[in-house]
Amino acid sequence: MGGLARLEYRGYDSAGIAAVTTDRERVSTSKKAGKLVNLAKQLADRPLPDATAAIGHTRWATHGAPTDANAHPHIAAGGRIAIIHNGIIENYSTLRKELLAQGVDFLSETDTEVAGHLLAAEVAKGLSLADGMRALVSRLEGAFTLLAVDAQDPGTVVGARRNSPLVVGIGEGENFLGSDVVAFIEHTRTALELGQDEVVELTADAVRVTSFDGTVVDREPYHVDWDSAAAEKGGFATFMDKEIHDQPAAVADTLRGRVDERGKLQLDAGIIDESVLNSVDKIVVVACGTAAYAGMVAKYAIEHWCRIPVEVELAHEFRYRDPVVNVKTLVVAISQSGETMDTIMAIRHAQQQGASVIGIVNTQGSTIAREADAVLYTRAGPEIAVASTKAFVAQITAAYLLGIYLAEIRGNKFPDEIASLMEQLSEIPAKIQRILDTSGPIREVARSMANHNTVLFLGRHVGYPIAMEGALKLKELAYIHAEGFAAGELKHGPIALIEEGVPVFIILPSAHGRESLHSKVVSNIQEVRARGAFTMVIAEEGDTEAADHAEHVFSIPVAPVLMTPLLSVIPLQIFALELATAKGLDVDQPRNLAKSVTVE
Ligand code: F6R
Repeated sequence: MGGLARLEYRGYDSAGIAAVTTDRERVSTSKKAGKLVNLAKQLADRPLPDATAAIGHTRWATHGAPTDANAHPHIAAGGRIAIIHNGIIENYSTLRKELLAQGVDFLSETDTEVAGHLLAAEVAKGLSLADGMRALVSRLEGAFTLLAVDAQDPGTVVGARRNSPLVVGIGEGENFLGSDVVAFIEHTRTALELGQDEVVELTADAVRVTSFDGTVVDREPYHVDWDSAAAEKGGFATFMDKEIHDQPAAVADTLRGRVDERGKLQLDAGIIDESVLNSVDKIVVVACGTAAYAGMVAKYAIEHWCRIPVEVELAHEFRYRDPVVNVKTLVVAISQSGETMDTIMAIRHAQQQGASVIGIVNTQGSTIAREADAVLYTRAGPEIAVASTKAFVAQITAAYLLGIYLAEIRGNKFPDEIASLMEQLSEIPAKIQRILDTSGPIREVARSMANHNTVLFLGRHVGYPIAMEGALKLKELAYIHAEGFAAGELKHGPIALIEEGVPVFIILPSAHGRESLHSKVVSNIQEVRARGAFTMVIAEEGDTEAADHAEHVFSIPVAPVLMTPLLSVIPLQIFALELATAKGLDVDQPRNLAKSVTVE
């Protein structure tokens, strides 16, 4: 149950366990709709017997509503086989019809149960569970990580992986499987990532990996460089609050040790030749959600520093519109989990067109980290809360490092300019800490706004993606209608949304520096205020004008404009967290969401 609890962030509409006992007829299962706590209650009333092996699952529904019956594990062959699954079996409907024609009874509406019955048929022919799994996967299309147990082979768990992650935890006299190392981190920090199209056969003291065709694969284990404490709440009421407070460390760790003795930036894995990077004539950032907003922020910096055009595209849109990508394109895939299917598909498409791919990824050994030509890890540590916070600031930091690196090797910046940018970045952790230490007023205002139905967010330049990120945080946590707009766009339509009392957050740029947008944004504030908006302004410390235009001003430390997104997002994260908490909502596990979106 501990492992399932740590994986609950990936899906939490139902959960279940199948245990293999010495009864060789059937596995014992327990499953329940709703959060894991419901399963825990059921198990407390009706415990499962002691087991030699077990599989467990927390679900994010794709096929079939979140009911007890659709919860995994699914059983087949009268309970001899139990199976769990992440992903989508795209040809499940054809397979289901075939099984129905053979007289198979279905107990659920899931695609997974189809796989269970097909596996049972293979095992009934006399194949071992592992051979049966290899036969099964040859019939499936789509994305699937499957784990299965057989009552007649107690002590063995067999897994298969295509497109969705599967990691082996190697212990002493015990071995584990999980979608993420957090599942077993309290037992072992030695992990082995299964590759695409591989099958694993696991007993307490052996791990055997083969490809789908049965060829033995030799995979090197790796050491997980964080421990179970990093995946705990550390005294905070929620993971999200803890992760918001992890942000100074997330930025500092992402920066640490990046520059070698010659002053050159170091990527973590894989090499893209400098000559390739020098010949790049376009950068395309592919990502989804919050990670895409990190990419939008990075666009401003990379274009400014490197004079290379940067496009930012939602990965799911990029893949299917025949994008213009070639050997001169550098694709930057940004992903916390490294497992977002939309982003994986986008990088595969880009690689097929000859583009080089750099992954900015938080999860060691994840699919994007393995498939990209080079990786720059964000060292945010495990992010458990579903809403991304510390990964976001770490993603911006890593993308900035990449921009500085490109500016360096392409000769766009002199060494002293590079050093100055690195210095500006190194000052960010302490500045974030200052915002966290003085977050009382924004928390108080957020709590007072729990009854509002709409909140708007405005920003210009780098403040624009931050406005959208602030709105996304509020939507997903507080279920409030929230929109982020480019402040200049407001008068082209969205200003019609403003009516008496509508709360509007505005990110006000610094009044200093070349081509300051301060006065332009002040005008935008006046425009909404004149129409009754309740304005809350995020302004630089010492901005004496901000208070004249706002019901509330929240200050952030002074920083060069391109560094400000790393600061201005913090009050917005806190606002969403606090408002959702005041509404009594579960901020770590908002409704309908899952942390890793491993389906297209
Ligand atoms: C929002 C959020 C999502 C993710 C998006 C991409 O708070 O967490 O929008 O940013 O699903 O996920 P990754 O970064 O894992 O690819």
